[in-house]
Amino acid sequence: SKQIRFTLPPMGWSSWNTFGRHVNEDLIKKTADAMVSSGLRDAGYIYIDIDDGWMKGREHDGTIKADPDKFPSGMKALADYVHSKGLKLGLYTTNYTVTCAGRKGGGLVGSLGHEFQDAAAMAAWGIDLLKFDNCDGSAESFYAMRAALDAIEKKSGKKIYLNLHYVTRPDAFPHTPDSWAATRLGDSARIARDISRKWETVEHLIDDARVLAPAYIQPGFVADMDSFEVGHAELSPDEARTHVSVWAVMSAPFMAGNDLTKMDRETQALLTNPEVIAIDQDPLGFGASEVGLRPGQQARTHMLAKPLASSGSRAVALVNQGDQAANLTVKFADLGLAEGLVLVRDVWTHKDLGRMKDSFSTELPPHGTMLVTVAGQEPALSGLVELSSVHW
Ligand code: GLA
Repeated sequence: SKQIRFTLPPMGWSSWNTFGRHVNEDLIKKTADAMVSSGLRDAGYIYIDIDDGWMKGREHDGTIKADPDKFPSGMKALADYVHSKGLKLGLYTTNYTVTCAGRKGGGLVGSLGHEFQDAAAMAAWGIDLLKFDNCDGSAESFYAMRAALDAIEKKSGKKIYLNLHYVTRPDAFPHTPDSWAATRLGDSARIARDISRKWETVEHLIDDARVLAPAYIQPGFVADMDSFEVGHAELSPDEARTHVSVWAVMSAPFMAGNDLTKMDRETQALLTNPEVIAIDQDPLGFGASEVGLRPGQQARTHMLAKPLASSGSRAVALVNQGDQAANLTVKFADLGLAEGLVLVRDVWTHKDLGRMKDSFSTELPPHGTMLVTVAGQEPALSGLVELSSVHW
């Protein structure tokens, strides 16, 4: 199997959710400036990801061209600017002849058959992350791009983070979670369809991640739940908090998707809460599993828990996707902790809620989430485990 190149979920900003294909160098520079002045960079948001819309056709020799009207100074100069701010630059392309938005024309070309050439161009510009999308493309192109990035790394030592998108065309590639987890072609991969400002799409992503996480979201591989839709009036404060909380317990990329030059204080606080970021970036890197689910339960409430690197610690999101208030109780035995007192901490408000014996209960508003860490003791090794470790 491939060596693990990057381990933690990437943090940054992506142009797609707010700007679509209307990207240009002025927007990217202003976003880089805002990333610094808003404190996002210092909170860990490092990548500025230019999504679809940056390219315009190819030279006669096949070299890909950044749209000269949108990027008059060229990509290299823009990457230099972004790097000078202590940030990294990402670009987008696809495994087809056109990009996903380029299916309607506009010179938005994809990388099919040009994988090595495009990877070389990006490396020469100083690009740090590649989002490699799949709307109509081929599996071969994924392998070719992986080989191209490996060749660049071997030659120059430059690692380019590879984010893949397998899911939109299941007929074009056996891109089941089994295949992406097994091949480890990318450093992260989108697990579901596009997010939008509608709460229903956030819910769909939570449901998909919940099903995939126990088997697939593991150390060294990141399930991409798409960029954030916080910072828009369409999601209520409770919904926005649910969105960020679940992304954190799933160890998903933290990519802001709002206009950073017009960010309000609430959104800034939501994106930069250090304890929430620490859960997302916890070095163990597991995705949360559902706990406390009773047989036959068809609930729209979920308790999603993941172990943290610190012994005896878990992060738990108590999630109410329902339209009514709901009461949830997490039993510490369901978290695999030994009997004894357990310290419960409210992560969003930075408050210790006390040491509790068997369980913790809370009342949640509709579409609301409480995110806690619990600190107890790992159970002692059972006789069976001890025996088998002697045997080994
Ligand atoms: C697909 C991807 C989106 C975005 C667009 C760009 O829909 O899933 O994230 O990159 O293409 O066209």
